Amino acid sequence: MRFYSETLGLPDSAFTLLRELIKEKTGIFYEDGKKDILGDKLSPLVLEKGFSSFLDYYYYLKYDADSDNEWERVFDALTVPETYFWREMDQIKVLVNIIVPHHYEKRKDETLKIWSAACATGEEPLTIAMELNEAGWFDKMSIDINATDASRRSIEKAREGLYRERSFRNAPIALKEKYFTQKGNMFKISENIHRLVKFSVANLLETHRIYDLAASHVIFCRNVFIYFSENVIRKIVNFFHERMPSPGYLFVGAAESLLKITDNFQLREIGGAFCYVK
Ligand SMILES: C[S@@+](CC[C@H](N)C(=O)[O-])C[C@H]1O[C@@H](n2cnc3c(N)ncnc32)[C@H](O)[C@@H]1O
Repeated sequence: MRFYSETLGLPDSAFTLLRELIKEKTGIFYEDGKKDILGDKLSPLVLEKGFSSFLDYYYYLKYDADSDNEWERVFDALTVPETYFWREMDQIKVLVNIIVPHHYEKRKDETLKIWSAACATGEEPLTIAMELNEAGWFDKMSIDINATDASRRSIEKAREGLYRERSFRNAPIALKEKYFTQKGNMFKISENIHRLVKFSVANLLETHRIYDLAASHVIFCRNVFIYFSENVIRKIVNFFHERMPSPGYLFVGAAESLLKITDNFQLREIGGAFCYVK
């Protein structure tokens, strides 16, 4: 890969322009020492577009009316859709065993809206659907599960619903057998579960795209804030807060904290897991 950035070269001036544009558009920030990483990740895209410099690519991304599709490819190139089924289960158990029963008791006629806000290839929302199904909640009340990611490639994979063995590193064997059918060396999610999750492409920085989604009772936004600067995270979580009903429950990844970012939400320990509550 280094071959490409050596071929093209990424001058400091072009790096500064590009990283500012990328931060503005995606939230992802490249520090001074990360110039080579950015260069290596983007250089295949620059060459595929037929440009001979990063600066030309920058102008294309910034000013070309057709650059929207290219931005989806930039997301694919810059982020790792690393995820797996039954990840950080404490929070999902809290949803199934505490939040959903509470909602059912207080307002069972109101559809419970759950949003997995950076779902990558879909393992997180599908785990939520399987666990809610195991507990029998879909028979008792109406539940909407939306799942989005900025990467079109990831969402296409999620819609396909075919997974490799590595997605099951934490999966209970019995549930894997119950909900998946082996196809060669891949595993297909059962249609009954797959159809419960609505997958679509959405960038968290585009508030018009997430306007309705953010009005969910429960938001899982896990392992994506690690890419963002504090200012970007603040903007996003304050927007969630503005849109969510009360009570609203926001789950972030175990390595992420909003304590220095905002005091709009109350951090609560519920059933052994941390949750930001509106
Ligand atoms: C590590 S995965 C997290 C998957 C899942 N939430 C989990 O915890 O297992 C991070 C995802 O964030 C997505 N992402 C990065 N920036 C984003 C943005 N601005 N809007 C929406 N998704 C974004 C990436 O495409 C990637 O799929």
